[in-house]
Amino acid sequence: ASKSTDKMVEAHELLKKFYHHLLVNTKEGQPALDYLLNRGFTKETIDAFEIGYSLDSWDFISKFLEKRGFDLSLMEEAGLLVKKNNSDNEFFDRFRNRIMFPIMDHHGNTIAFSGRVLGDEKPKYLNSPETKIFNKSKLLYNFHRARLHIRKNQQVVLFEGFADVISSTRAGVEQAIATMGTSLTEEQAKIIRRNVSEVIICYDSDSAGIEATMRASKILKAAGCNIKVAMVPDGMDPDDYIKKFGEEKFKHDVIGASVPIMTFKMTYYRRGKNLHNEGERLQYIDSVLTELSRIENAVEKEIYLKQLSSEFDLSMDVLKEQTFQKEKQIS
Ligand code: UTP
Ligand code: MN
Ligand code: MN
Ligand code: MN
Ligand code: MN
Repeated sequence: ASKSTDKMVEAHELLKKFYHHLLVNTKEGQPALDYLLNRGFTKETIDAFEIGYSLDSWDFISKFLEKRGFDLSLMEEAGLLVKKNNSDNEFFDRFRNRIMFPIMDHHGNTIAFSGRVLGDEKPKYLNSPETKIFNKSKLLYNFHRARLHIRKNQQVVLFEGFADVISSTRAGVEQAIATMGTSLTEEQAKIIRRNVSEVIICYDSDSAGIEATMRASKILKAAGCNIKVAMVPDGMDPDDYIKKFGEEKFKHDVIGASVPIMTFKMTYYRRGKNLHNEGERLQYIDSVLTELSRIENAVEKEIYLKQLSSEFDLSMDVLKEQTFQKEKQIS
């Protein structure tokens, strides 16, 4: 690595420790610490994930870095500072009055931050921009901590948010990673596949999370993963669920009850449909057959065809013929 990227990482490492100190040891950090503890974060997870707090100041970090000899334009390039209007050498702090989640790369180097507001302001999370050391489309949050657990469990659980990863870890499901508020990329899917084949998608159970599950499953399948889905009920997210129902229930009734992706898709295509209505029933069967025509494993295909056949009292011959027609259309 070049000297300038080393300096960028060094600044992130230093600030990570400083933000953490502000959160856990200072009066200024107390409201942020109270917020986290109220949400169910523990001292232990706050330490393990090195969560911090950035002061409500425009220049504290600029001065802090300048005093320690860091080049401020380089710190701007690193995403820690922002250029003042019409000025090439005046800067202000990017992260102010936020709860700071350090982002580590896959080797454990601190390379970015995400800062959460304590209230309801927007944006809820402010992320470091893309930089020489931070490539969003390749980064998976918590990957470096989760790696050994992923190997041990031969499985990874993919979440939407930081809070979900952290609560899941507290619940003992430590093979936990998340994308950074964007859709899963092909690069991320390839990195996952290089380490493990079984992926449990555990996104939020709102409509955004359900749609994102469908999209992520497509990308993971293309990368060669074996996909399951675990979904909490009622529009909650995994972190909400753990807070409400506890760690054991999450482990057994959510992660332990994960279903194959095809089962999830069948539920998905049923949503909002009245299967007593002939047109809607045909639509549903057609969507499922389209999915089945893309399955290569003959046994797997047969299992779902049997389900359809018995549920709708249709002959296996007809269902197979229809799937075969669809396969021809695809190829
Ligand atoms: P969510 O809106 O589900 O947030 O976004 P969350 O993780 O449940 O947040 P809490 O529980 O209210 O703290 C999922 C993820 O999308 C990214 C973050 O990575 C977040 O964890 N995100 C969300 C952003 O980058 N910016 C935003 O403004 C919001
Ligand atoms: Mn500590
Ligand atoms: Mn969400
Ligand atoms: Mn969420
Ligand atoms: Mn949440």
